[in-house]
Amino acid sequence: MSTDGVNAGRRRLLIGATAAVGAVGVGYVAVPFVKSWNPSARAKAAGAPVTADISQLEPGQKMTVEWRGKPVWVVRRTPEMLAGLKRIEPSLLDPASENEAQQPAYARNEFRSIKAEYLVLTGICTHLGCSPMFEPEKAKIESTWEGGFFCPCHGSKFDLAGRVYKGVPAPKNLEVPFHSYTSDKVLVIGVDKEHA
Ligand code: FES
Repeated sequence: MSTDGVNAGRRRLLIGATAAVGAVGVGYVAVPFVKSWNPSARAKAAGAPVTADISQLEPGQKMTVEWRGKPVWVVRRTPEMLAGLKRIEPSLLDPASENEAQQPAYARNEFRSIKAEYLVLTGICTHLGCSPMFEPEKAKIESTWEGGFFCPCHGSKFDLAGRVYKGVPAPKNLEVPFHSYTSDKVLVIGVDKEHA
């Protein structure tokens, strides 16, 4: 009797486990179909533009939006941060953004941006693709640090315009994705005059 009871219990357990696996299996299989029916997921994968409301971004803060599967940072720079960009130039590899591939023409200026206050960058290190950390405080990484981005993987440093320092593994400035503004507080990543 007691053995039967154990076996019956095992059977119930096994049936329950099989049913659970079956349910998980169905759920797992169903997800890709749901995704493929969703036009916004398809459009996103193809690189559809992404709109960012920057009205809540305080001076000195960074927000991140996703575009084409990559993080895009928006930093609202303070006047002090903007002043630091000039001071740090002697330490930079490409302070004048001479590598044209790293930003659209409208961001090839001293701030690497359309509006001096707002920096828009692809948050992927130009060395081997890690995502650098936002370190806005002065002297945080070294005594001359004016704020910027530090890559923890191999120590590359970038200033608050995404310009790479000399003598680090990363060979070029962080990329500025093409973008535009539809109003003072609405930014669109993936659309500009040439990419509608
Ligand atoms: S991936 Fe950033 S320093 Fe190597």
